[in-house]
Amino acid sequence: MTERLQQQRERAEAAGQGHVLRWFDELSTLHGNDLLAQLEHVDYELLARLARKFDERPAPAANFAPPEVFPLRRDDAQERRAGDATERGRALLSEGKVGYLLVAGGQASRLGYTGPKGAYSVGPVSGRTLFEFHARRLRAAMQRYGVGGPWYVMTSPANDGETRAFFSEHRFFGLDPATVTFFPQAMLPALDPAGKIMMADKHRLFLAPNGHGGALSAFAEAGLVDHAREHGVEQLSYFQVDNPLARPADPLFLGLHAEAGAGMSSKVVAKRDEHEKVGVLGMRDGVLGCIEYSDLPDDLRTQRDDSGKLTFRAGNIAVHALSVDFVDRVTSGGLKLPWHVARKRMQVLGEDGRMVERDGAKFETFVFDALGMSEGSITLEVDRAEEFSPVKNREGEDSPDSARRDMCALWASWVREQGGALPAGKGDEPPPVEVDPLLAETREEFAAKWPVEPDVRERGHLYE
Ligand code: UD1
Repeated sequence: MTERLQQQRERAEAAGQGHVLRWFDELSTLHGNDLLAQLEHVDYELLARLARKFDERPAPAANFAPPEVFPLRRDDAQERRAGDATERGRALLSEGKVGYLLVAGGQASRLGYTGPKGAYSVGPVSGRTLFEFHARRLRAAMQRYGVGGPWYVMTSPANDGETRAFFSEHRFFGLDPATVTFFPQAMLPALDPAGKIMMADKHRLFLAPNGHGGALSAFAEAGLVDHAREHGVEQLSYFQVDNPLARPADPLFLGLHAEAGAGMSSKVVAKRDEHEKVGVLGMRDGVLGCIEYSDLPDDLRTQRDDSGKLTFRAGNIAVHALSVDFVDRVTSGGLKLPWHVARKRMQVLGEDGRMVERDGAKFETFVFDALGMSEGSITLEVDRAEEFSPVKNREGEDSPDSARRDMCALWASWVREQGGALPAGKGDEPPPVEVDPLLAETREEFAAKWPVEPDVRERGHLYE
């Protein structure tokens, strides 16, 4: 028996997880080494702690309060503050002090797509992928401000190779490859109710990404805090791969966050109604965070304030600004975010070596749990129609179809406002119109560029 195998066997057995090597003798050298490499990364102490969480139901919070929000409809004083903040944000952007952090490590399982989610085509006319939309927004920022910050793309070990290959095949969508850094988040084995590691195959643990909270620790462990500082980056603009309308280089948001000296800030949209299943930003027992839909008591979920609006309406769109100093501080000595348990039925390998369906649990940390560690935080309300339409499900709400519809409705409204001609939509569908972020990212920018002739394509009108 090789020393490497001996070591891993001892570690696993000491942790009561010896079964993971049950089929080792049947494996090819390649598969055997593969399994040993996975085992070398297992933190058995952490797993033992997580196993105890399997049946744990966290005590419900006692006190909830809405956060202080910088609103979309502003009074004169707020408008003046927004103007100053926008100037500050523009200065940060043109001095190259902003870096971009995209989280793209998720598994796209609800979408039923096997590739990296960013490789999914969403452009209603162009067919461009999510990655390309984001890349074009960063190129637009670079054109506008003369410099572009580094782009950090978090992948997972499951999609890292494919993501890098996709960027290479598409020549980094016109960005300088030297400005893009990929870094994988960590994966954790899923556990059964008895706390045993589940297997996906004889040579593979059933591994799942450790949640978007893993972005912060993976960023620091990959040496990127230093990388950011060496490149003069002071603020990170964090966004999710699934939202083609995300605006990572928003001077107002970055400026408000920097002016407040905040560690971590967030963008929110008004919840559509009390039934919309989004997390809301709010204070839980005095600590700012995201309150999941299921955690908010019914009476508070439906409660309205004096103006008739939902009291808890600050819907989380998972867009954040984080200062590099904050990321450094919260990751030094190991990031202490709480673990969340997702109990699921999973397809795993049974004792007899055949696939079976079992109850199991995956464990994740969430980036918004770091909000409570931030001294000062801005919660900026933005217009959903302009900035949020995520692609999560195969169909229905938050699907490729709903995102394309929302994008067309938004961009058609920009064209209509300028008196431009629109192609006819099918049935109740909005006119098939797409505006390239490189041409304009906001209604105001589009108006300033007008008149523009669209490229008339079979699928609709593309303004670029
Ligand atoms: C998330 C938020 C929700 C918010 C919504 C907005 C959670 C628990 N909830 O919901 O409050 O309203 O976004 O769109 O996050 N990801 C990784 N690594 C992981 C897990 C996820 O990179 O280990 C990335 C995914 O690629 C994706 C994003 O994080 O871009 C969101 O993850 P997902 O699990 O889809 O979150 P939601 O449940 O949709």
